[in-house]
Amino acid sequence: MQFYRNMNKNIMSYDKPLTANIDPGREPLNLREYEQAGGYRALRTALLSLEPANITNLVLDAGLRGCGGAGFPTGKKWNHMALGKDTRHPKYLVVNADEMEPGTFKDRFLLEGDPHQMIEATIVSGYAIQADIAYIFLRWAYNRAAQRLTKAIAEAYDKGYLGKNILGSGYSLDIYLHTSAGRYICGESSAMLNAIEGKRALPRKDSHATASGLWGKPTVVNNVETLCNVPHIVNNGVAWYKGLSITKAGGTKIYGVSGKVRHPGAWELPMGTSMREILEEHAGGMRAGLKFRALLPGGASTAFVLEEGLDVSMDFDSLQALGSRMGTGTMVILDDKTCPVDMLVSLQRFFAQESCGWCTPCREGLPWIAKMLVAIDEGAGKTEDLDELAVHAKFLGSGYTYCALAPGATASLESGLKYFKADFERHVHDKHCPWRT
Ligand SMILES: Cc1cc2nc3c(=O)[nH]c(=O)nc-3n(C[C@H](O)[C@H](O)[C@H](O)COP(=O)(O)O)c2cc1C
Ligand code: SF4
Repeated sequence: MQFYRNMNKNIMSYDKPLTANIDPGREPLNLREYEQAGGYRALRTALLSLEPANITNLVLDAGLRGCGGAGFPTGKKWNHMALGKDTRHPKYLVVNADEMEPGTFKDRFLLEGDPHQMIEATIVSGYAIQADIAYIFLRWAYNRAAQRLTKAIAEAYDKGYLGKNILGSGYSLDIYLHTSAGRYICGESSAMLNAIEGKRALPRKDSHATASGLWGKPTVVNNVETLCNVPHIVNNGVAWYKGLSITKAGGTKIYGVSGKVRHPGAWELPMGTSMREILEEHAGGMRAGLKFRALLPGGASTAFVLEEGLDVSMDFDSLQALGSRMGTGTMVILDDKTCPVDMLVSLQRFFAQESCGWCTPCREGLPWIAKMLVAIDEGAGKTEDLDELAVHAKFLGSGYTYCALAPGATASLESGLKYFKADFERHVHDKHCPWRT
């Protein structure tokens, strides 16, 4: 995979605020260079001339939604953090940089490519919710991002952008980089809080982090890409942000494509760009000799979309209306020479392995599903297995488990059983995988 490829294609620099400073061929901007490019302007505006609630209102009006998978409105989440003298401290902001969703590699671009943007975004967002401490919870394998963030944090402390009484504003913030132990569940926001506290990374049932998060104190967890939008909204305003998009949802989005396409990669494009444009123009279409069959639009936890859905906009509402989800906005492509049952085996094995084991349907159900899929894939399946898989998938759905890992796992399975029924039946009938003959 060639990272950054075509990253800036077809879009003027003022239209791609998140990646404007990113050039994969060179080291990221240091603090001085970042300032010369307009960096830390939002920090000065926010801390020296805006009230925290003004920033939350800007984010709310801009319609910024979470890019970590669920698409929750960011301003709404921040509004749940009580402000004022009587609120409990310390308050925390946690930056979710775990990025272990299969097929997803967008946050890595931002962390490696422009670490000062991440730091400025954390300070401005921290100020909006009046956080005292911020953690950047980083995927274990992102060593380059860790080095670059560590350097950027040190530079920001030296310049007085972090620590006590930032720029004489009276606001203080410390940032700590926390490297994940390396499990998918650590990316789930409440399990992440347990992980930071040094506990086993189990999700917290009925958790409301804004009331009782890290060490029982008010906490907000947001995704890397979500937060990186904030300084640009502060600098340029709501109308500008909304104007970047070609749908109702505002801003740009880092879309990615993996699979057997000509140019796998990631690109910052207007929010709402169609799946067809991303696939055919930016990723260059399918490799020679291969045809498109389906795609998972936003990582492994989203439902398959077929050819007839390709003209739909990649945005939260449009994908939901199509019966899938935007998720992380990074598409995984299935081609006509890859067995869909085989693909589902890989996905379900991943989810089974990554189950934290806390609730029974997920702990027992996912390995059982993976085992049944392997049997079908190897020609040992029975016709009734298909109905049984569908029943298992139902009982792993929303409402039956403590977190969204299992419901996410069933998205590809349920849609796969529906769209690739004939492929499943051929495996059962022929007693072998048709792609392996
Ligand atoms: C199993 C699982 C893994 C997740 N992994 C991530 C992740 O790596 N990065 C992320 O930002 N969100 C991840 N999420 C979503 C988070 O729980 C949470 O919704 C998100 O960090 C909130 O930030 P946002 O509102 O800015 O999207 C995961 C959720 C689940 C259920
Ligand atoms: S759904 Fe799976 S990952 Fe989530 S709490 Fe239950 S066992 Fe753990």
